[in-house]
Amino acid sequence: MNPIKHVAIIMDGNGRWGINKKRSRNFGHKQGLKTVEKIIIESLKKNIKFLTLFAFSTENWKRPKSEIKFLFSLLEDFLVKNIKDFNKKKIKLSVIGKKKFSKKLNKLLKESEKLTSKNNKLQINLALNYGSKSEIVNAFMVIKKKGLKISEKTISRNLYTSDIPDPDILIRTGNTNRLSNFLLWQLAYSEIFFEKKLWPDFNKNDYNRIINNYKKIKRNFGNI
Ligand code: FPP
Repeated sequence: MNPIKHVAIIMDGNGRWGINKKRSRNFGHKQGLKTVEKIIIESLKKNIKFLTLFAFSTENWKRPKSEIKFLFSLLEDFLVKNIKDFNKKKIKLSVIGKKKFSKKLNKLLKESEKLTSKNNKLQINLALNYGSKSEIVNAFMVIKKKGLKISEKTISRNLYTSDIPDPDILIRTGNTNRLSNFLLWQLAYSEIFFEKKLWPDFNKNDYNRIINNYKKIKRNFGNI
């Protein structure tokens, strides 16, 4: 059976869910956050060590200001409400992406990372203002600055995810089959599961089904 250490998720479909319910896109984001909470609990139960969540991409800045503002206020509330409990549960929070937000949110993110930095039960990587191409370009720039040789090892070591294993599984909800500039380097050998359900409808049974299916897959990594 395949061991499972790292799950990455593109949580797509909040906006459509809200509109389908004759409410707003923001209502969908609020509901999406409930799914985030459920998936964190389930990941702890399954002893998954790393959970990487795509919460805001470098391209998401193109959205209406009101939606961006709502998403960040949701994130602030989420951190204020949960960070102490995360710490108790030995969850480590780590942000991947460029921390270029309001002073208040930058501070909150840094404090949350610091508070939980020694924890090792589950590491949640929150991808915020994250874009994979810019992450890779940044790695090359650091390598050049340090005068190192370009190799798979030096590139991997200079990504945001340098100290963690690549994802075993990528899940994308929302009936869209693309990677949207998410972890392009790290997903080279991940098993990809595209789900029709919109993120707010995704539940622990769906998550467990994917994990069970993953465990049965023969992973060859180019071998036979
Ligand atoms: C994609 O759905 C979702 C996002 C861009 C944001 C994800 C945010 C959450 C799940 C809630 C907040 C999370 C945290 C961790 C605070 P979409 O809006 O692109 O959906 P659509 O394809 O239906 O428009």
